[in-house]
Amino acid sequence: MARAAPKPQANMGPPVPRYDGRAKVTGDARYPSDVPVASPAFAFLVTSAIAKGRIVRMDLAAAQAVPGVLDILTAEDTRELKHVKFAAGGAGASTSIQGLGPDIDHDGQIVAVVLADSFEAAREAAHKVDITYAAEEPAATFDATNAREESPEEVGERAKKLPKAGDAAAALASAEVTIDAQYATPAQHHNAIELFTTTALWSGDELTIYEPSQFVFGLKNNLAERLGIDAEQIRVVSPYVGGAFGSKAQMTPRTALIALAARRLGRPVKLVSTRDQAFTISTYRAETRHRIRMGARRDGRITAFIHEGWELTSRPDPYSVAGVEDSARMYGFGAVETRVTLVHADRNTPGFMRSPPVVPYIYALESAMDELALELGMDPVELRRANNSMRDATGKEWSSRSLMECYDEAAAAFGWKERTARPGSMRDGDWLIGWGCATAAYPTHLGPSAVRVRLTPAGEVRVQVAAHDIGTGLYTVLAQLAADELGVPLDMVRVELGDTALPPGIVAGGSVSTAATGSALVKACAAIRERLTAAPAQTTGGPSGNKLEDVFERLGIGAIEEYAEFIPEGGKPDAIASLYKGKPALGGGSHGEKLMYALGAEFVEVRVHALTREIRVPRIVGAFAAGRIMNTRTARSQLMGGMIWGISSALHEATEIDRRHARYINDNLADYLMPVNADIRDVEVILVPEEDSEVNPIGAKGLGELGNVGTAAAITNAVHHATGVRIRELPVRLEKLLG
Ligand code: MOS
Repeated sequence: MARAAPKPQANMGPPVPRYDGRAKVTGDARYPSDVPVASPAFAFLVTSAIAKGRIVRMDLAAAQAVPGVLDILTAEDTRELKHVKFAAGGAGASTSIQGLGPDIDHDGQIVAVVLADSFEAAREAAHKVDITYAAEEPAATFDATNAREESPEEVGERAKKLPKAGDAAAALASAEVTIDAQYATPAQHHNAIELFTTTALWSGDELTIYEPSQFVFGLKNNLAERLGIDAEQIRVVSPYVGGAFGSKAQMTPRTALIALAARRLGRPVKLVSTRDQAFTISTYRAETRHRIRMGARRDGRITAFIHEGWELTSRPDPYSVAGVEDSARMYGFGAVETRVTLVHADRNTPGFMRSPPVVPYIYALESAMDELALELGMDPVELRRANNSMRDATGKEWSSRSLMECYDEAAAAFGWKERTARPGSMRDGDWLIGWGCATAAYPTHLGPSAVRVRLTPAGEVRVQVAAHDIGTGLYTVLAQLAADELGVPLDMVRVELGDTALPPGIVAGGSVSTAATGSALVKACAAIRERLTAAPAQTTGGPSGNKLEDVFERLGIGAIEEYAEFIPEGGKPDAIASLYKGKPALGGGSHGEKLMYALGAEFVEVRVHALTREIRVPRIVGAFAAGRIMNTRTARSQLMGGMIWGISSALHEATEIDRRHARYINDNLADYLMPVNADIRDVEVILVPEEDSEVNPIGAKGLGELGNVGTAAAITNAVHHATGVRIRELPVRLEKLLG
């Protein structure tokens, strides 16, 4: 079997090719901005040139004189827009959601929208809008004198929830071996291939929005609130998403502005924002800082774990990922203490970016684990084994935990036993070789979903749910699951996603889509089977081929359609009603009775040139356990992509911030470093069989976000092994390795 399609093992589905593969490679797949609308006006955004202050004057004369310009929206035109409160779950995501100023609270805030007969005219006019500002000195990031610190106590509610067990300070003071280290991760920005687009089309009082979205029901309801209209007047359509990773999960300011513009003009409006605007009109992964203190016995048992995090957020919004929730539970620590401090600065609001809590926090944890292993003179894998536990320090038990199976399989495939421990001891000519490893972990979330399934006498199946395939493979795995459950060939199944005209699905976030929609689908299919078996004189097995027609004939019906709602165990009874209102209730992970996580182990080889300090990653091996694997091809693809992003966050990605102006410097694909083919060599994914019937009815843990967790630590650990230099601030760049 091809490498891209690993042979399924126990509890794994076959690697059927992607349901939407052909449509995507032939250009048949219509992304939201591809949908043709009649005689659209084109929008171009004008964004703020300052980070903090006020617009005192806006001269539109030159812009209005550009031929083809139809309208220019400014602050006065957006007064009617209602303010939607920031909510980390499903609502508005951004600070300046209020409208177009005149107050400015971050660089690149939208301050005007130019509408014209052509994109070119709109763009030209946008550049001719002449703005006079009264600028104030902004706080750019950590350590700015006028940034505001919000202590965990102030944040209140969340502080209470952070894990704490035993007396960590006392355990640390009496530990035989201790480490105390600080780490930092940079801001990173979403650079999906598909830009942030919105097309708005009014037909009377009915509004249709074509916009790439990870949660169409959320967008629909939040937009209704912004516009002050009934949610039932809005339909959001987003069948394909060209990269999202969290950036398209929440409503951002542009949507209401474009809807408003279309209503004023009485004409559809199309916005395709630019690459640099994407840095400030949407969300991003904010920079973090960490201090980790650990105490251990000589035999490697960790008796104290203290993890403090600092996170950057916007001035008004308390966006926080608080991944101590996960780091503190990863091993059987003796006592734990955790703290998170939020730092508010004059920046656009951060938000979700693939594995938001665990990427920075597990990086810090897994770096510290490596430092402790060195201090103890232990093999890093054996340190993980010594602290592997089915219970965390607070006494919570894992539903299943295959961490050491992952370590053992990945270590064997990698050849870890050939490693010599001393840094700098493995060398190949001018290249210093380093081998490192780290744990990958992602919480298994639980979420509700509805679904509608129809079966015809010809055996055609239609699955409908307003869930989203953001490249993850949801179309494919739902088609597979429906075919299996109803006993029809795969090519008889049609799947429709991403449209609020369909039953509501969960946000395509938190790696929860397969589990939630799959569980609803299984329920609907069971109901269909039940109706089929109710047919008179039907005694043998499931439906198939001609027999199905007979069954329908005996039933005297033309088709069977079942609508099902799935609410996870322990979920609120109104979870589906809330979903209709655009509020997703995500549980699971560390928040339920048991700890539920997908886990993995990643091993990397780095090569650092002895003279130039050029850094290469010739190979990476990851082994992952995530409960039931629906499709080994799409699973491998997710995990491989995750590891590549992990390499990127270790060695390439960082948004550079001009501290004087609180402005992003490298807001383009030339300067924002990302790996290319030449940077990515051998990437091996091992799927480790695991069964967990507790997580959800289909037993799938979700793995869309698992692969890029831990990778950065595996790489910095390997860099240390190669060079003896410990990089505690990402990304690793060669200048940091020049003695
Ligand atoms: Mo993902 S960052 O949960 O969309």
